[in-house]
Amino acid sequence: MRGVRFFHCLRAAKGKGEGVTGTLALSVFTAVLGSLEFGYNIGVINAPQKSGRVEEKTLKMRTLTSLWSLSVAIFSIGGMLSSFCVGFVSEWLGRRKAMLINNLFAFIGGSLMGMSKLCRSFEMMILGRFIIGAYCGLASGLTPMYVGEIAPTSLRGALGTLHQLAIVTGILLAQILGLESLLGSEHLWPVLLGLTVVPTVLQMALLPFCPESPRFLYIIRCQEHHAKSLRRLTGRQEVGDMLTEMKEEKRRMDMERKVSIPELFRSSLYRQPIIVAILLQLSQQLSGINAIFYYSTSIFTKAGVQSPVYATIGAGVVNCAFTVVSLFLVERMGRRTLHMLGLGGMCVCAIIMTMALALLDSVPWMSYISMLSIFGFVAFFEVGPGPIPWFFVAELFSQGPRPAAMAVAGCSNWTANFIIGMCFQYVADICGPYVFLIFATLLLFFLIFTFFRVPETRGKTFDQIAANFNQHSAGGMMDMDMDLSMGMGNGMDMDIDKPS
Ligand code: GLC
Repeated sequence: MRGVRFFHCLRAAKGKGEGVTGTLALSVFTAVLGSLEFGYNIGVINAPQKSGRVEEKTLKMRTLTSLWSLSVAIFSIGGMLSSFCVGFVSEWLGRRKAMLINNLFAFIGGSLMGMSKLCRSFEMMILGRFIIGAYCGLASGLTPMYVGEIAPTSLRGALGTLHQLAIVTGILLAQILGLESLLGSEHLWPVLLGLTVVPTVLQMALLPFCPESPRFLYIIRCQEHHAKSLRRLTGRQEVGDMLTEMKEEKRRMDMERKVSIPELFRSSLYRQPIIVAILLQLSQQLSGINAIFYYSTSIFTKAGVQSPVYATIGAGVVNCAFTVVSLFLVERMGRRTLHMLGLGGMCVCAIIMTMALALLDSVPWMSYISMLSIFGFVAFFEVGPGPIPWFFVAELFSQGPRPAAMAVAGCSNWTANFIIGMCFQYVADICGPYVFLIFATLLLFFLIFTFFRVPETRGKTFDQIAANFNQHSAGGMMDMDMDLSMGMGNGMDMDIDKPS
């Protein structure tokens, strides 16, 4: 039924001249190969921890565990540093060339990791993880930016969700290939790590056939051949309406000063949307999802699950399936509703998980409940908090401030990812089964924030979304705060139906 509705949506978009052309499909597919690689490198890190051998030999386990924590940390540090450069790199090289050149990082990182065993160099492995992290940091900003800019307005959410779908597919692929019977064995793990260069080569081969973002060409570079890119992407000869929309965005941008990162926080025009962007990214990471993905094996073991490795793969399958559900729903239900549904569902699952873990010793069948609640937690994550924050930032800002905003948002995401990766294990040791109550509290906070502060962006042009925030900031933050305290600033009133 939902599938049928989705295709109605596609047809309606086509009716408006906003359908999916071959060039658009190729460009989106090529861009999200970067996301696939990002996900693969998140998933692949579970392999050494999963190995049965690790538990057998305590000494080896200790060494492996600390090397493994270092790999998790260094990957996020690479991502944190490079995500901060997304704005500068995407303006300097353009979106397409930036993605092309970023592949060099993936190539060098993948080769270092793949060769580390042969060269008996642990340092090569760590350096490789750092460089591949840097690749992922850039890809996590460049991909949603490019896809958001080339997508027609009515499909921007659905196509934006493909970034996350490719990430979760990458995670699942790595989880499956990382099984000890496949590539997760003592001899084959370098192949597992080195395989990361495959999507890189494919992306490098396909990118030259994809057009540069017409918005970037026209609004930033003032180049007239953007119309050619637009015709290729839309398959229409007549693109006057889209050109008019871009001209209007450019006219507004020309009236503003160049937006730097400090400016985002100083200017009352951008302060509100940048706070929303940062909190959405934090809601994604501080939801605790990576506590599951980085430490799934030990969590499932503690939850009394008999085959933790297969349960981890089960979580990967649920993860993929529900991203597809979100893809079908996002243009119908809107970003805000789905995000709130996801956060609320995760919060409930975290509470059930805590109760199940606490009762595990006295009620053995609680292990099933804890496993189901972990699956539910992952499923709700993918309905909203997984895919939405990634493309939502690109939607909240017009062409001028977008690169700086993507850099700040991306860096917040990676920093929170790093903190969870580093601290979860220690906090879990202290809090025992109650650790997920911390996430439940944070989830509740983000749910309330989304309800009051996050606007709906579905079906709006970038200019309309920015203009709406501008109206609110012209009214003053004071007014918004008053609305809030009177219980009226519920985000719904930021929904705009008419172009302003
Ligand atoms: C999102 C997060 C990433 C997480 C993944 C899980 O892409 O950014 O950190 O591992 O979802 O599906």
